[in-house]
Amino acid sequence: MAKKRSSPAALRHVTSINDLSKDEVERLFREADGILETSADPHAPHRVARTGDGAKGFILGALFYEPSTRTRLSFETAMLRLGGATISSADPATSSAAKGESLADTVRVASNYADILVLRHPRDGAARLAAEYASVPVINGGDGAHEHPTQTLCDLYTLRRQQPRKFKDLNVAVSGDLKGSRTIHSFVYALARFGANIVLMPAKGMGLPDHVFERLRDEFNCEIASGRAAGGNVSAVDALYVTPNRPHQLSLIANTEIEVRDEADRIDVVYVTRFQKERWKEAKQEYPKIDRAFLKDKRYANTRILHPLPRVGELDTSLDEDERAVYFEQAAYGVVVRMALISLMLGVGEQSELARHDGGFGASKWPVYDRPPGTGLSCANPNCIVHDELERKHCRDKFHLVEGPKLRCVYCETDTHEFVAADTRSHRFHSTGKDTWESLTKALPSLIFYPTLDAAAAAGYSPRRRAV
Ligand code: NCD
Repeated sequence: MAKKRSSPAALRHVTSINDLSKDEVERLFREADGILETSADPHAPHRVARTGDGAKGFILGALFYEPSTRTRLSFETAMLRLGGATISSADPATSSAAKGESLADTVRVASNYADILVLRHPRDGAARLAAEYASVPVINGGDGAHEHPTQTLCDLYTLRRQQPRKFKDLNVAVSGDLKGSRTIHSFVYALARFGANIVLMPAKGMGLPDHVFERLRDEFNCEIASGRAAGGNVSAVDALYVTPNRPHQLSLIANTEIEVRDEADRIDVVYVTRFQKERWKEAKQEYPKIDRAFLKDKRYANTRILHPLPRVGELDTSLDEDERAVYFEQAAYGVVVRMALISLMLGVGEQSELARHDGGFGASKWPVYDRPPGTGLSCANPNCIVHDELERKHCRDKFHLVEGPKLRCVYCETDTHEFVAADTRSHRFHSTGKDTWESLTKALPSLIFYPTLDAAAAAGYSPRRRAV
């Protein structure tokens, strides 16, 4: 008889910044404020200097399959400052991963040791897979190029503490490897949701992934306009302005979707990222460097410079003494922000616990397509966790059927636009573009998606004669 997999009824995971509502983010920041009020170092107000006992008796497990300094140490410090304990597996070479153990198995085992898990992994979507197998809350500490939600919480909290404007009034420039930086993906989603204006200043060929860009435009109501961002020696960076769609701002942007706009007259934040060499086959070529010369332009007069760190040359060290630099404070806030998150996930904070959900996530707005691996189409992103040989047998091909229609991988959230829907009842298929989101949604339980017409035909389906 098949053994039922036990999964606790109600849990709460954080694998994407979008798993948290804006109210929950605000609540978490209030919790962090409260911790700093009672426990900050009087000589360094962003530093937690006292240890409480709120999480006494709880254990945090850190499973790190990729290098980390700040994220792992600040999570461990956060748990210790809350009076809890930590266990860590920080080197894949010394854990069972080296013997070929899957993440799914490791997480199932570690759930029996720890009360909350933090995972860092080189594969996009790994945190979501871990959450499916964990029986305790899972926090994403960075999964491939997908997301790094707790870094974004630190970034937002830094802005909240270190500059006077509300998020919705900010002009935020993000610079560097916008494609490979998971920190950027979580950050731009959050900025868009809080209504900030975003100025994208990618290194050449390193713009936001298409699915992130489209999501800002289609789901977070951003208007996109192109222009130029001035900056000293960085040969007039081409910039894309992503502006939350507010009626009073539409006059700034012409009717065409992409329109050249004047440079933003004030940049409140410059967020710098390094070239993510571990995620690119190509060597780094031109890369923007943020230094005093770049920041000479008057629009940067009152800017705040952020960087998730580590930096490797793209942020000049001469800026360390500049009062606009807040990146070391940003790293320091990592402890209090993670203390707040752990407290609210375990329900041991001053603020109320984060809502728990069956399966660990709030209900999706989109219907979910779910098939065993090898049935039809699988995720188009080669770095998605579903393509990891060890994990493949633990994953299914799961997609959100998003209006468009398009298929969004449940794990890494990469979108697929081109697919063929085959109906297991009629044994016929229709090419992409002919079916509406509504018709696909209705027929979803009997559909199998294939990547091409040929693949559907090879699986024994024939062309559909008329639309359903
Ligand atoms: C970031 C990461 O790991 O994505 N580091 C961090 O957590 N502070 C940024 C990076 O490695 O460039």
